[in-house]
Amino acid sequence: MNSSFDIPITSSQMEVIMSMEGFVGEQLETLLLNVNESWQPSDFLPDLVTKNWNEQLAEFRTRAQSLSDDVLVILVGDMITEEALPTYQTWLNRLNGITDPTGASPTPWARWSRGWTAEENRHGDLLSKYLYLTGRVDMRSIETTIHHLINNGFDPQT
Ligand SMILES: [Fe+2]
Repeated sequence: MNSSFDIPITSSQMEVIMSMEGFVGEQLETLLLNVNESWQPSDFLPDLVTKNWNEQLAEFRTRAQSLSDDVLVILVGDMITEEALPTYQTWLNRLNGITDPTGASPTPWARWSRGWTAEENRHGDLLSKYLYLTGRVDMRSIETTIHHLINNGFDPQT
């Protein structure tokens, strides 16, 4: 399904996308992570539902004190980039041949796109929770930046 909102691509680009559709459909399970076996953000963070959550959090924060400012800046930059995921999925859904017209389309590329987005979602989620729990960064400023980034949109001129 094409619409005027699709990102225009050349016929040879469309040919490549369409020629890969069967492969993507057949290999979807190897191209995407098994949800039940993949890591989740909470695997790397203090478990706040256990009895000793406060000890885990204290130990976590003690370790986080050793992070240099340079490392924190890198993590913040990564987090901002990762947290703009809605923008990237919007871009993918406009890419002719890969669109997911219903939001739950069964086509191979649409299934891959949603799976990729679900995997990517863990990155910003982990970085955000991690940085918040360190108590070392101004989360509100970072969140405001992310808000602006998504709000402003993204046109990569693909
Ligand atoms: Fe990522």
